Amino acid sequence: MAEGIVVADIDDVPEGEGIKIDAAVTGTVDDIAVFNDDGEFFALDDTCSHEKASLSEGWLENGVVECPLHAGKFCLKDGAVMSMPATEDVACHRVIIDGSQLRVVPNPARLA
Ligand code: FES
Repeated sequence: MAEGIVVADIDDVPEGEGIKIDAAVTGTVDDIAVFNDDGEFFALDDTCSHEKASLSEGWLENGVVECPLHAGKFCLKDGAVMSMPATEDVACHRVIIDGSQLRVVPNPARLA
């Protein structure tokens, strides 16, 4: 059996944008944001660690997502917080490209 959960087609995630995958699909405690940064795909918990904004609606630049609400920044590779007002990391999840599909392997620490 292939690893991970199919969450979208590659074409569903436009370059420079993110989409939100419902936690019911991934079996995680938070929805998951899947991002396409210059053709590389990343997945983080969708809810910003500062307040409740959806990171899938944030802005991407150079491997970083900027929260749409107060502009806190997180590294797409590992969810590390990179700027105030956010002070806590967000969890990251593994993304596998499987043909034209994207699979997410949920971070075990974030399973519901
Ligand atoms: S909610 Fe994301 S920085 Fe405030």
